[in-house]
Amino acid sequence: MKFQAIKGVRDILPPDSALWNRVEQTAREIFGTFGFAEVRLPIFEQVELFARSIGEDTDVVSKEMYSFEDHDLLEFEQVRSALMMTSLAADDLLGFQAYERNVLTFVAKLSESFKRGEVPRTPENEKIIRRIPEIFEQMNRTRRTHIESQFSFYEEAFAGCLTGVKTALQSYRFGDRLGLRPEATASVVRAYIEHGMQTLPGNVKLYYMGPMFRRERPQKGRYRQFYQIGAEVLGTSDAPGIDAEVIEMLMTLFERLKLKGAILNINSIGDKNCRPAYVEKLRAELQKVREQLGADSQRRIETNPLRVLDSKLEHEQAIVAKLPRIGENLCDECRAHYAEVKRQLDLRGIQYQENWRLVRGLDYYMRTTFEITAPGLGSQNAVCGGGRYDGLVELLGGPAATKGIGFAIGTDRLILSLQEAGEGATQTGLDVYLAWFGAAAQTAAIGLAKRLRGAGFVVELPAVEMKFGKSLGLADRLKARHAVIIGDDELAAGVVTVKRLADGSQQKLGEPQLFEYLRAGF
Ligand code: HAM
Repeated sequence: MKFQAIKGVRDILPPDSALWNRVEQTAREIFGTFGFAEVRLPIFEQVELFARSIGEDTDVVSKEMYSFEDHDLLEFEQVRSALMMTSLAADDLLGFQAYERNVLTFVAKLSESFKRGEVPRTPENEKIIRRIPEIFEQMNRTRRTHIESQFSFYEEAFAGCLTGVKTALQSYRFGDRLGLRPEATASVVRAYIEHGMQTLPGNVKLYYMGPMFRRERPQKGRYRQFYQIGAEVLGTSDAPGIDAEVIEMLMTLFERLKLKGAILNINSIGDKNCRPAYVEKLRAELQKVREQLGADSQRRIETNPLRVLDSKLEHEQAIVAKLPRIGENLCDECRAHYAEVKRQLDLRGIQYQENWRLVRGLDYYMRTTFEITAPGLGSQNAVCGGGRYDGLVELLGGPAATKGIGFAIGTDRLILSLQEAGEGATQTGLDVYLAWFGAAAQTAAIGLAKRLRGAGFVVELPAVEMKFGKSLGLADRLKARHAVIIGDDELAAGVVTVKRLADGSQQKLGEPQLFEYLRAGF
């Protein structure tokens, strides 16, 4: 069997990995100068954390999350599978009685482990333990009343009850539901609350980098395991200067990386005072044009009308253009906040475009939202997204006064855009290919390699002796800058031969001169 990476998941190989390291290193440096420190977060968390913060009805949570039940109750799992697979005919009384016995025995065991706290003591689990025996009682009652007179009615009721039992069994949770993180803001907020970071002085400024997981349809710039570099500011202030400084930090990074053609889009989506009224207004307008909308947008009229503004469907564009705009429906506080964010951006000389349709796909946002697009990425051109999420800390059980704002860069997309623009080149690293010929020369070469590496040079030392031509050929193909050659003649004279591979020039040097020569070559 030939193994391959899973669909939508990639290996990042050299030399690309060098560019990844450069990007991540530059982010660390720039973020550090703005007073941010790194937080390393777990890759999986309780599904509930993501559902609560990102939103149960968002695509990210409802369709794209990789989740699993975390437990070691294998025996329970096996019994449940067997009970789930059992099929029964309505007239098979003995079969039914055996099934009832087996299920109720299983339920009794579940009940015991529930009491011992071995399975999650959730209200749902408790309800299922009570519900299953009730379904069997109902089945028995129906059978007694109808079996002789109206068999077809009994048959239907029997099938319905059996499905009820199986659904209940299936819904019983043996362990915590965990999910691979689709983003990291929820985890940062969880960590902030868990570690009581509200007691720290000033704003808490954290950054993170690492893989995220979303089961999306893979295409250029869209993967199922992708990487983000993100930053969050948490604290009691929601001053617009914070929003602007976070964006300034981002733009500084992009500038340092020489990312060209990045466009900053900003918007304000209001807060809990003004957004609900706007959403209702939007919903009412959308109801009027419901029939002209696609299935997704129709569904979103109920679940999240704001997301209709995000629509990329060609035929919906003209409809969306006529919808009421949030900017004209902001309360005074949100309007003032947004105006000040723009003024603060101006103070920093940051150019932006206002985009009233920028609502973002995660539920926790309020007020400022922003996105940055970059060239060379096709349809997946958002290289970074972010915004303010003032209510999230409270929603997750933290202090109500804590506000938050942050962003996440899609590292895969940033790298793609840099590469498309020719900014992706990284120097090949090999300074010296150390060719040796004969056992005594190998001993000398091992010592020299150690001293060269100690001085910071990148050295390739062949592990076995090769013919001269083959060895120098390999040095060429590895794109070494120099070949340093040690053979009997060099050993006798106490020198090495250095060949500059770019032009073939060569000379014999003692060790101190070799170091000088290599240093000068940088
Ligand atoms: P997001 O917009 O969902 O926001 O993701 C941020 C960025 O991650 C996107 O702009 C994109 O570059 C990248 N991205 C998302 N999905 C994929 C994918 N499947 N493949 C490749 N890249 C992808 C968030 O995640 C928020 N947590 C950002 C944030 C932080 N807001 C406040 N703080």
